[in-house]
Amino acid sequence: QQTAIIVVAAGSGTRLGFGIPKALVPLADRSLLEHALDRIQLAGCAAQVIVVLPRGDTELAARAAAHPLKPRCVDGGATRNDSVRAGLAAMDEGTERVLIHDAARALTPPEVFRQVAAALVAGARAVIPVLPVVDTIKQVATDPGHGQPHITGTPARESLRAVQTPQGFHTPTLLAAHRRAAGWDRAQAEAITDDAMLMELLGERVDTVPGAAAALKITTKPDLVLAESMMPRHPE
Ligand code: CTP
Ligand code: MG
Repeated sequence: QQTAIIVVAAGSGTRLGFGIPKALVPLADRSLLEHALDRIQLAGCAAQVIVVLPRGDTELAARAAAHPLKPRCVDGGATRNDSVRAGLAAMDEGTERVLIHDAARALTPPEVFRQVAAALVAGARAVIPVLPVVDTIKQVATDPGHGQPHITGTPARESLRAVQTPQGFHTPTLLAAHRRAAGWDRAQAEAITDDAMLMELLGERVDTVPGAAAALKITTKPDLVLAESMMPRHPE
């Protein structure tokens, strides 16, 4: 079983505002990180699990060590992309497929992990879970000297998707994409908001599988309330 999962959990959770790393924030009985690991365990599609934690953390590392999945823990970096790279560096050599998952999407159902992993086994080089967009999304531009941006266009909503994690990749192709991005300046590096973007920039095809409402990214306090209301009694 040549699939690894990297869970990035090295963010500070500034917008959630608890003063502790987001992955340590409790939802019902467990931390967000433990919820994510529970669902990865139920999915049963990875031989290797790597968790990327804030540098200097001991609390999350203790929770991870106590989890039956026994993930490997490594220190993260300043940006999400740096943390992903730290996770990739900790992977066993020759791992053919890798899933990259946000701990902040703590309630992502096991079925989503399975579908992403299955698409890779079936030959996809990049695959991401997506949901239709409910809002009308506009493109904007800001003129120098003007405060508020103006609208420059409206992409057809049927052509838009909201993107979730886990995102799955053929490992050598993702590593090549990261190597290419390694020399980018700070502004370019900060514009990388997910890993699929790097594949797109390489001209690689990125496939999709259906995402899930429960895979929402817990970002602010209301998200935590919403997530709690979505918790099934049995994650299966
Ligand atoms: N992440 C990470 N390393 C970073 C920044 C983010 O591993 N340097 C992870 C987070 O832990 C999270 C995921 O990337 O699981 C998505 O990031 P986000 O939702 O922005 O989480 P935080 O950065 O923790 O939150 P905030 O931006 O509000 O501080
Ligand atoms: Mg962040």
